Amino acid sequence: MLLQIGRIPTLIVSSPVMAEQVMKTQDHIFANRPTNKIMEKIFYGQKNTSFSQYGEYWRQAKKMIILHLLSNKKVQSIQPIRDDEVTLLLRRISASSCSVNLSEMIRDTTNNVVSRAILGKYLASDKKKNDEFHYSLNKAMELIGEFRVEDFFPSLAWLGKLTGSSDLVNEVYRIIDGLSSAVIDDHVARDKAEKPDFVDVLLRLQDDPNADIVYTMDEIKAIFMDLIAAATDTSYITIEWAMAELVHNPEAMEKVKEEIRGIAGKKSMVEQHDTNKMYYLKAVLKEVLRLHPSVPMLLPRESMEDTKILDYDIPKKCRVIVNAWAIGRHPDYWEMPEEFQPERFLNSSMNYKGHDFQFIPFGAGRRACPGIAFAIATVELLLANLLNHFDWKLPGELRGEDLNMDEAPGLTTRRKMSLVLVAEPRS
Ligand code: HEM
Repeated sequence: MLLQIGRIPTLIVSSPVMAEQVMKTQDHIFANRPTNKIMEKIFYGQKNTSFSQYGEYWRQAKKMIILHLLSNKKVQSIQPIRDDEVTLLLRRISASSCSVNLSEMIRDTTNNVVSRAILGKYLASDKKKNDEFHYSLNKAMELIGEFRVEDFFPSLAWLGKLTGSSDLVNEVYRIIDGLSSAVIDDHVARDKAEKPDFVDVLLRLQDDPNADIVYTMDEIKAIFMDLIAAATDTSYITIEWAMAELVHNPEAMEKVKEEIRGIAGKKSMVEQHDTNKMYYLKAVLKEVLRLHPSVPMLLPRESMEDTKILDYDIPKKCRVIVNAWAIGRHPDYWEMPEEFQPERFLNSSMNYKGHDFQFIPFGAGRRACPGIAFAIATVELLLANLLNHFDWKLPGELRGEDLNMDEAPGLTTRRKMSLVLVAEPRS
């Protein structure tokens, strides 16, 4: 579907065939990201990897984050952090006397894992700062996911002031910049002999005469804050929806618990290597990402030249939105698409790498998500331990089918209502 919104032509892709054209056959033409006023403000002129313009800066930044953070070797090396944070989460849940706000707890855990992996410590030093960060991240995701008149009608930019959205963007920027500046100050002041974390690696390039690229302080802030934002929201939303779908579908819940507990045996903690044998758990996760891809429209792309897709003329600078949410529910490709049926993935070779265009929760092609290994390791370990340690139910007399399954609007699809559950220690 091609829409002319204001000055910007916008192509909406909702079928696997067209998605393959955009993200594989003509990936070289559609690998750019459009400029976005909010991203420009929050990420210092869109210098974050995920929204940076296609070109040398993006190429180097992506190479750098894969090498120093997201390769399989690096993902394995932060296993102690994951174990530590999962242990803390289980303790916190055990210590709660009645129902727990699982959404909040999982969000904090995934944020702690990624912050420690990138910064060597927690992002926020106290609860107030932590709440402020999540508030600003929520608002940023909502603002970026919203239709903003000024992005399509630049002459109407003054509307932002009238509706108050400009003030909100400034507030989000102030909070995020405050936290990231504190991280930089702390790293600059530290003893250089310490084991370098990801931020140290970026900073040390500034003193390296042989470095291919040297980043400014603003670029460094944009790169690491982008990663924290990209990793926190997406991973916690996936676990949140997985727990919601399992409570909503008691049969799948029993099956997955049986598998996890059979493999974990009497161990108090499921270990990462145990999850390799948990095929039903893996199928549950795929089914969750099919029905609730945490970035439902992927990230927007932009054509870099005039082109043709099948018989359609697509102009240069056309914005492209790939609707992964609709593709995951496409009735020509999925039987009973609205049903939660992890079994459909049990004997299937479909994976997350973006080779099967009816299943693209991590995108595909050059701009695909580089954090798959990082995300899956965290999500599987957390979920397996939550299900191994506790039996979960809704508070009071509520039953699985009573659970509200509405989604909130935004770039990422959180649940509209926080997931509040009762955790009973496994008998
Ligand atoms: C369940 C978890 C996650 C999901 C569902 C997810 C999904 C996505 C999607 C859909 C995109 C856009 C792909 C496209 O435009 O084709 C993306 C991009 C990106 N993701 Fe993830 N992501 C997850 C976790 C992570 C993690 C853990 C990290 C890093 C620690 C990460 C870092 C990035 C980056 C840097 C990009 C931008 C890539 C580029 O533009 O070249 N993501 N992700």
